[in-house]
Amino acid sequence: MSQTIPQQPIEYNMKVVRQFTVMTIIWGIVGMSVGVLIAAQLVWPELNFNTPWLTYSRLRPLHTNAVIFAFGTSALFATSYYVVQKTCRVSLFSDKLAAFTFWGWQAVIVAAVITLPMGLTSTKEYAELEWPIDILITVVWVAYLIVFFGTLAIRKTSHIYVANWFYGGFIIVIAMLHIVNSFALPVSFMKSYSIYSGAVDAMVQWWYGHNAVGFLLTAGFLGMMYYFVPKQAERPVYSYRLSVVHFWALISLYIWAGPHHLHYTALPDWTQSVGMVMSVILFVPSWGGMINGIMTLSGAWHKLRTDPILRFLIVSLSFYGMSTFEGPMMAIKSVNALSHYTDWTVGHVHSGALGWVAMITIGSMYYLVPRLFNQKEIHSIKLVNVHFWLHTIGVVFYIVSMWISGVMQGLMWRATNSDGTLTYSFVESVQASYPFWTGRFIGGVFIVIGMLLMAYNCYQTIRAGRRETAAGNVVQTA
Ligand code: HEM
Ligand code: HEM
Repeated sequence: MSQTIPQQPIEYNMKVVRQFTVMTIIWGIVGMSVGVLIAAQLVWPELNFNTPWLTYSRLRPLHTNAVIFAFGTSALFATSYYVVQKTCRVSLFSDKLAAFTFWGWQAVIVAAVITLPMGLTSTKEYAELEWPIDILITVVWVAYLIVFFGTLAIRKTSHIYVANWFYGGFIIVIAMLHIVNSFALPVSFMKSYSIYSGAVDAMVQWWYGHNAVGFLLTAGFLGMMYYFVPKQAERPVYSYRLSVVHFWALISLYIWAGPHHLHYTALPDWTQSVGMVMSVILFVPSWGGMINGIMTLSGAWHKLRTDPILRFLIVSLSFYGMSTFEGPMMAIKSVNALSHYTDWTVGHVHSGALGWVAMITIGSMYYLVPRLFNQKEIHSIKLVNVHFWLHTIGVVFYIVSMWISGVMQGLMWRATNSDGTLTYSFVESVQASYPFWTGRFIGGVFIVIGMLLMAYNCYQTIRAGRRETAAGNVVQTA
């Protein structure tokens, strides 16, 4: 005979989730606006206003750091703290440490926003920040690790939901990558030299760089997918077994693929071949995961017609599928000989970054904001719909422009005359790229307008929620 035991409502720590959620939207607008500015500078170089800290070379790493570590990582903090609490039915392991991760991470971002335009950089891509900031990152990350795994340890449920596996994998691997790649000898407060040199330095750097893609821009966001897609679709994950296979296959393969960034370099040839083969195999678990996410909609496809939030989530998975098909192709040496150094790589990056990472984040934020701020639903679903179209059109503009210009650049650089001389000078390839760079700029403007609409929509939702709270009403949400 079953007996219903009245349950005490669980006091979750939603404060830190709210803080990271709001900062995700703010940093998203900042990072993408800097993206639009540098896209414009490539077309109109005078937009650096002859000011050193506004030059392209300094703003480009500001853009990449802002979108990956401020926008993307804040979203990962927000959603992982939310998901781990909800799926473990327990509040965070330590509220103080969680608050420390919020303020510590914002301090890292502010330090990046100040030092990068000043030209202070370690010169390692996606690891440009200098050693004092690297130490702060390590401390904050270890605190994050303790909060996340501590919460898993005190969970009230018997099993660990798969989204937490992906978040956990991402947190552990990023700690390892960051620490190993950042080993450096400081020579002053803001200058250090890597302890690695030559080909070893390059190998360690791209082991870091590629796995930052694999674990931060992929595994972490897959954690998001495994929670928010089923929630928004109101359907269970298509195959739980496939999700576990997906996890183990992904983490055991990604870690070997780094050398595909170093084809035809001083790296030993066999290492390049291992990187290539592992990248090609990586296609299989990537698509397994994508299919698992999309098929979660089985029996609920009609929801796509009316629910733009679900559309954000599902279209992000299509972009995930597209970029994880393109990546393995580009890892094949003969294809890489054409794509490397060209805009094709930049197109691939942004089909992953703007299509997959940004869209799954935006969808998850639209899910979270009303629930975090005492509202049943988002202020205007119509505006979400407008945002969806602005973003989708913007991404398509961006990546199609880059594909065309990338292949064109590759072909122009390798074209030779019958006497063996080059058919085109480099400058001619730059001139030919201008229309496509303008196309990318227009796409970027669409995307940023969409982000501003999102900020307005979320602001109105938060305001309405505050009014309800002040009136003493608690809105019930799922
Ligand atoms: C409005 C949106 C965006 C615009 C207009 C934009 C624009 C740009 C531009 C112009 C570059 C430099 C390309 C070059 O050097 O040739 C770039 C690089 C990059 N962006 Fe974005 N971006 C946007 C959003 C994002 C987002 C959301 C992410 C990540 C989540 C991202 C990640 C990157 C990365 C990783 C690079 C370096 C690519 C490489 O080295 O190949 N971007 N972006
Ligand atoms: C199976 C999955 C993937 C494989 C095998 C793969 C493979 C590759 C290859 C071969 C390159 C070009 C390297 C070069 O010529 O320099 C590349 C660049 C890049 N990919 Fe992917 N990719 C995958 C998925 C993704 C996803 C999902 C994202 C983003 C969310 C992403 C982000 C990047 C970035 C940021 C770079 C540029 C790195 C740089 O040079 O600065 N990749 N990828």
